[in-house]
Amino acid sequence: MTIYILSVCMVAAMSIASPADKTIAPTEPAPKPDRYADNACVQCHRDLPGRSSEIVELQWKHSVHYDANVGCDGCHGGNPAVRANQFESVDALKRAAHQQRNPEFLTMRRSSDGIVSATGGRSVSYFCGKCHDQIKEKHLGSPHGDFGDPTCLYCHGQGSHKITDATPQIIDTAARAEAGRCSPCHDASTMTVVRRIKQTLTDTEQRINESGQLYAELESWGYRNLELEQLHHHAGEVHSKLRQIFHSFNMREIDNFAAEIQEVTDHTTETYEMIKRQRAVRRQQTVMGLLAVCLLLSFAGLLVYYKHSFLDPHHAEV
Ligand code: HEC
Ligand code: HEC
Ligand code: HEC
Ligand code: HEC
Ligand code: HEC
Repeated sequence: MTIYILSVCMVAAMSIASPADKTIAPTEPAPKPDRYADNACVQCHRDLPGRSSEIVELQWKHSVHYDANVGCDGCHGGNPAVRANQFESVDALKRAAHQQRNPEFLTMRRSSDGIVSATGGRSVSYFCGKCHDQIKEKHLGSPHGDFGDPTCLYCHGQGSHKITDATPQIIDTAARAEAGRCSPCHDASTMTVVRRIKQTLTDTEQRINESGQLYAELESWGYRNLELEQLHHHAGEVHSKLRQIFHSFNMREIDNFAAEIQEVTDHTTETYEMIKRQRAVRRQQTVMGLLAVCLLLSFAGLLVYYKHSFLDPHHAEV
């Protein structure tokens, strides 16, 4: 009896001392319908031989732009809503679709002697800057924008259309001999700055991620604090801004943003440590309280047993 009460109490105390993690079952992703079934650009270009079908199937479909619903016309302009049955020939359909294409693209791909050439120079920034305006401004104001190279596509392109998630890993610190992407134009002294920028971006990203986990844990404990919530939200915004403004490649500007983020993440860590300590103390108190109750209960059980066995006259006769 006593042993039983004690062991039940111990189990209860232990489960309070180490709460089990709850896991959430993953949900099945629903199959995606073809969003571009009616899009004239995609439908025609996919079936063209050579580079066009490669652009559609091997590059654009695996890009952030495909995921974000940016079709061919988003970048190139033109009219994707034309229908084959409205035209007498494929050529007329093509001409109608191509009308009012993005003039930046046309200048970007035309060299001085009128021949369409490889992409280059500042016009790429105007082309992409139609949607990434802030980055365009920063890039054009940077040493790279000044020089006209590297372009947005040099850093993000992977063969022009396979533009994937931007991460600090794009900044390649490998040496010239190892075919590093940044080193062809940078000697050892500016490569030091390149390394510093990468380190700052990587550290900041890691800080934001860790701080996000701490904050989520605080929330899962039921901790609510409006000031911290706002600060945390603010840090996310600053990080997003940092990812844009760093295109200036100006170390002072980058350091200012990074420092602001560190302040917020430090504050989150401090709060987390404080709440964690408080919870540990509270849990200890609960466990001690439970053990005390158990001890009392067992003692009472013992008394009852003692009374039954030795003091009760009827019991003794049996
Ligand atoms: C009926 C077929 C057809 C449709 C529809 C079509 N294109 Fe094209 N497109 C072509 C062909 C063929 C070429 C090859 C170059 C040429 O003949 O002009 C081409 C070339 C291009 C080029 C590269 C060369 C250049 O002149 O700029 C781009 C960019 C382009 N198309 C974008 C688009 C976009 C954006 C749309 C939709 C708004 C679209 N196309 C709709 C057939 C088509
Ligand atoms: C994010 C912007 C963007 C989107 C979206 C986009 N393009 Fe392009 N496209 C470019 C750029 C930049 C170039 C020039 C770079 C190059 O040729 O390497 C280009 C070049 C082209 C060319 C000429 C390539 C050559 O080698 O002559 C064709 C054709 C083309 N795009 C078709 C398409 C089609 C079809 C789609 C839709 C499936 C599409 N693009 C979607 C940015 C885009
Ligand atoms: C029609 C508008 C549009 C144009 C033009 C455009 N983009 Fe985008 N781009 C988007 C959208 C929308 C997203 C997804 C949301 C976001 O991250 O901003 C995106 C995302 C990106 C990302 C990933 C950002 C991340 O969060 O990791 C990169 C890199 C990028 N674009 C580069 C380019 C480059 C380079 C060009 C020019 C060749 C270009 N974009 C042209 C609309 C555009
Ligand atoms: C020298 C290389 C380089 C050049 C040139 C460059 N970028 Fe980036 N870009 C990066 C790197 C690295 C990141 C990721 C930064 C990070 O994660 O901290 C990035 C991030 C981005 C993002 C994500 C920002 C966000 O808000 O989520 C977009 C979009 C983008 N670049 C577009 C462009 C466009 C458009 C151009 C041209 C005007 C351009 N980039 C020029 C290296 C470059
Ligand atoms: C096509 C040549 C070229 C490539 C490739 C290139 N840069 Fe640059 N970069 C320049 C030029 C030109 C300058 C301005 C002169 C200088 O500071 O060396 C510059 C300046 C810089 C600066 C400022 C240096 C300082 O002292 O303030 C940084 C940082 C930088 N680049 C980073 C990068 C990164 C990161 C990459 C690779 C993603 C890269 N660059 C690739 C040409 C290039």
